[in-house]
Order: sequence, then C-alpha cells, then structure tokens
Amino acid sequence: MSEISGRADVVLSGYGPVGRSFVEHLGRERDALARRHGVRLRVAAVRASATQCLLRDGEPVPPRPAWGPLTSLAEMLDRTGARVFAQAVPSSPELREQAAAEALIALGRDVHVVTATKSHLLSHWRQLDGVARAHDRTIRISGATGAALPAGDLARAGLRGLGCDSIRACPNGTVTFVLDRLAEGASLRDAVRAARRRGIAEADPSSDLSGDDSATKTRLLAALAWGWDPAEVRVDAVPVDDGAGPVARHAADRGRRLRAVAVARADEPLVVRVELSETEPGDPLHALAGPEKAVVFGCPDAGDVVVSGGRSSPLGAALAMVKDTIEVTAPRAGFA
Ligand SMILES: NC(=O)c1ccc[n+]([C@@H]2O[C@H](COP(=O)([O-])OP(=O)(O)OC[C@H]3O[C@@H](n4cnc5c(N)ncnc54)[C@H](OP(=O)(O)O)[C@@H]3O)[C@@H](O)[C@H]2O)c1
Repeated sequence: MSEISGRADVVLSGYGPVGRSFVEHLGRERDALARRHGVRLRVAAVRASATQCLLRDGEPVPPRPAWGPLTSLAEMLDRTGARVFAQAVPSSPELREQAAAEALIALGRDVHVVTATKSHLLSHWRQLDGVARAHDRTIRISGATGAALPAGDLARAGLRGLGCDSIRACPNGTVTFVLDRLAEGASLRDAVRAARRRGIAEADPSSDLSGDDSATKTRLLAALAWGWDPAEVRVDAVPVDDGAGPVARHAADRGRRLRAVAVARADEPLVVRVELSETEPGDPLHALAGPEKAVVFGCPDAGDVVVSGGRSSPLGAALAMVKDTIEVTAPRAGFA
C-alpha cells in the first residue's frame, strides 16, 4: 500500500481495441492502482483519426457521435496538463511520421511517452531519445515489444550489468502456432486458418509469417539492451512458406520442434536474423506451446535469463501500457 502522492493525467491517441482496453482498465482499476502504486491515473482525453473527446474526472468515454473535431496535440496537452501521452495508433508506414511528430511534441512539452505503436520507434529512435533526454522525460515501449510479455523491461533495465550478449526470441505467437500445426501435418493454409479461428492470427498474417514482426520486436529489444539504432539494423529473415511443412514434420519425427527464432548478438552489431531452427527438449523455445512467446537473454556469466508468457491480445498490450504509465508517474523511493 502506497501513499497517494498525486494525479497523472493521460492523453491517449488511438481508440482501437488496445486504446479501448487501456481506458476501460484504468477506469475500472483506478482506485486500486492508486492505492497500490501511489498515483491516481486518469485518461483526460482520447484522440482518434479525426475526432477527440475530453473526459471530466471519472466520466466514461462518450459515444463517438458526441466527440468533437481533432485540435492540435500541443493544445490538448497544455489544456489537460497531461503527464503522459499514450500511443495506440496503427503501426503502419503511413502513420509513422505522424506518430513520431506527436511523440516529439509530447516530449518537447515535458510529457512522458508510452507507446504500443512500433513504426516510429524503428525510424526515429535516436531523435526520440535525444528529445526525451533533453527534457528529462522517458519513453516506454512495453506494448510494442510483445504486449504483456515484459521482455522490454528486462532488455532495458533488468539485465544491467549481467553481461547479456545475445537475444534468442520467439516473440510472435502466430508463427509458433502455425509451425506446430505444420508439424502435425496441416497445410500452411489450414494452419493459418486454425490460427485465425482461435483469434491468434490477424486477417493478414503476412508480417507474422515473413518474420517481419519477430524482427521488429527483436530490433527494439536489441536497441534497449545495447543501444542499437533500430533504423540501422539489417534484417535477414527466412519466411514460413509451403516449404516449411516437411521441415517441421522432419523435426517432429526426431522429437524436435521447428521454431522461427529471431537472433541478435552483441558481437554482430546491427544484424537481426530470423531463422527456422530445430529446437531440442530443454531449450525454452522448444517448450513453447501454441501461441506462447519467449525470449532468452544469453548472459554467459550470470546464466541465461528466460522470459515467457504474457498475453498477446489487445488487453495484454493495454496492460503493458498501464504498467509503463505507472512506471513513469509513480513516486519512486525505497523499495518502489
Ligand atoms: N491488437 C493487439 O493485440 C496489439 C498488441 C500489441 C501491440 N499492438 C499495437 O497497438 C496499436 C493499436 O492497435 P489496435 O489493435 O488497438 O488498433 P489499430 O487498428 O492499430 O488502431 C485503431 C485506432 O487508431 C486510430 N487512428 C488511426 N489513425 C489515427 C491518427 N492519425 N491519429 C489518431 N488516431 C488514429 C483509429 O481512429 P478511428 O477510431 O477514428 O478509426 C482507431 O481509434 C498498433 O500499433 C498495434 O501494432 C496491438
């Protein structure tokens, strides 16, 4: 139980499944979170593609027709006195510049940034970092590095001084699920269909199967761990295609499991490979089932550190944003 030392208003951009879950969770859990973490979080405004709404204390988000036209973000941040700008807009190339510009506006006004949006992190990392440092603010990206899997926290802070020199990751649950179905004899088409039926795969799973999504998350983890600029990272990815079926079955016949493993190594700077590798019993990546994710941080002296679990869902991403929002606003001293 903490002493509640203050309030932290949040301006949220993006009201899709992740943004809605974020608002709903903070609304429902606000008192409990305040008691536990010492800060009362409140969503003060929500912005979407063309409209926005301002929320008075404790007020639910009004129906969309009652929202007003979008005003400038700077004005919105000043008007609300927000301490956090939360981003849950699409991670699409089309929105990259806007997502970067808005994060920079927030940081430039001494507002922390918490994001589940990935695109601008890949292209504007150095600029974002520079402005955040100049304004003594922080950027937290847990929602962009595997939803509720806290791999980003480990990469950024949890392994400091432990000598982590490699990252092996299966941070994309869809591709692991698909490879396991292929190993059972399903066709790629059927495996993807099964993933969609289970709500695991998006309508378009191409970035899951191409290795792009795994590479993106691993670029971000490597940036947090070793200070790489994600924009400079070369990606070498082997996609999961029709040819993967026989390879997955061949591995299964010998008690192994084929995994799409994203690898980054400190001694091979600015390269991320996504390989189709056979994994053996005892390997944490072999143990994954269905849509589970895991990251193995190789620490030769300290011993490897594995993080797995954490839901890959809009709620999982929203909870990661809640965690980051608490982290940047809650009072910190003593054990906190
Ligand atoms: N879904 C997941 O499980 C998951 C997990 C981890 C990370 N993420 C990341 O989280 C982010 C949000 O994902 P999502 O699934 O909630 O929804 P999404 O479909 O990526 O985003 C939809 C929301 O973004 C808004 N939007 C679009 N363009 C905008 C703009 N220019 N300015 C402000 N808002 C804009 C839309 O506005 P309108 O309502 O007006 O259309 C809508 O509210 C994505 O970047 C995604 O990669 C998602």
